Amino acid sequence: MAIVLKNGKQLPLLGVGTLKVTEETVVHALEKGVRHIDAATGYANEEMVCRAIKKAEIGNHPLFLTVKHNRNDFEKGVRYSVEKSLRDLDRKIDLLLVHSPDEDLPMAKILDELVLLQGEGKIGGVGVSNFTQPQIKWCVERHFPILVNQVEFHPLFQQWELKRYCDEKGVALYAYRPLAKGKVCQDDRLKSIGEKYHKSAAQVAWRWALQLGMPVVSKVSGQHVDEYMSLFDFQLTEKEMEQIQLINQKEQGQTCTGPWSNSIKPGANWG
Ligand SMILES: NC(=O)c1ccc[n+]([C@@H]2O[C@H](COP(=O)([O-])OP(=O)(O)OC[C@H]3O[C@@H](n4cnc5c(N)ncnc54)[C@H](OP(=O)(O)O)[C@@H]3O)[C@@H](O)[C@H]2O)c1
Repeated sequence: MAIVLKNGKQLPLLGVGTLKVTEETVVHALEKGVRHIDAATGYANEEMVCRAIKKAEIGNHPLFLTVKHNRNDFEKGVRYSVEKSLRDLDRKIDLLLVHSPDEDLPMAKILDELVLLQGEGKIGGVGVSNFTQPQIKWCVERHFPILVNQVEFHPLFQQWELKRYCDEKGVALYAYRPLAKGKVCQDDRLKSIGEKYHKSAAQVAWRWALQLGMPVVSKVSGQHVDEYMSLFDFQLTEKEMEQIQLINQKEQGQTCTGPWSNSIKPGANWG
C-alpha cells in the first residue's frame, strides 16, 4: 500500500522511524512487512540501518529509504554528505530530505545541488521536512521539484492550512510522530472510537492519517508492529473522522520543536 509521488515513485503508507530505535526494532518491523525506513544523519544511526536492512529477511521485496540531512551535512558539503550517506547505508536513497528550514542556510544552492545529484541518479528524489506553508510556497515558486514535506501531524496537532496547500501543489504531506510520541494512545476519545472496531487508540490515529491520504512514520517496537500492520480491515466513518478533527489542540499539541520551528518565512539567505 502506497501513495504515488509526483515523480511516479511509490511511497509506502507505513514507515518505521529510526530516532532512538534499536537494530532489532528495525529488523522486526521489516520482517513484519513495513517497507519504508525513515533515517536521518541527525539520528547518527545510518550504519545500524544498513546492518538492519541486510539482516532482515525480506527476500526481493522493494524497500523505500528516506534520509534527512541537516545543517551539519550542508556545511560539510551537499555532495560530500550524500556520498557519505550512500557509503554508510550501502544502498540507494529513495528520498533525500532537508531536515529543517534553518533560516540562514543557502537553501536555493542546497536544493540546486540535491536536484543535480538526483539527475545523476545518486538519490531518487528530493523533499523537505518541517517546512511551513510560506516556505513550501517559496520552493514551488522557484520550481524546485519538491516531492514531499514530512511534518508533525497527529490528532493533537493538525496542520490543515499546510496540508491543503501541499495537496494543491502536489507536494505529498506525510506525518512523522503520528502518535505524538505515544501521547495520543492515552486519549479516551480515540479509545472509545476504537472500541467499536476492536482497535487501539494508536490504530485509530494511524488509520485517521491514512484516510486523510497521509503516509505515516512511527516508532513501533515489539507487538506494536502487529497493531501497525492491522490497519486495513476497518474504516472510520465520516463522523468519526470529524470527531478526531475536533481533538486538535493546535500549537499546544506540538511535540517537536527546535530553533527552526519559529521560522515561518523563508530565510534571508535562502536566495
Ligand atoms: N522530520 C523530523 O523532524 C522528525 C521529528 C521527529 C520524529 N521523526 C520521525 O518520526 C518517527 C516517529 O516519531 P516518534 O518515535 O517520536 O513518535 P511516535 O511514532 O508518534 O510515537 C512512538 C511512541 O509510541 C509508542 N507506541 C507505538 N505503537 C504503540 C501502540 N500500538 N500502543 C501504544 N504505544 C505505542 C512507542 O512505543 P514502543 O517503542 O514501545 O513501540 C513510542 O513510545 C521517528 O522515529 C523519526 O523517524 C521525524
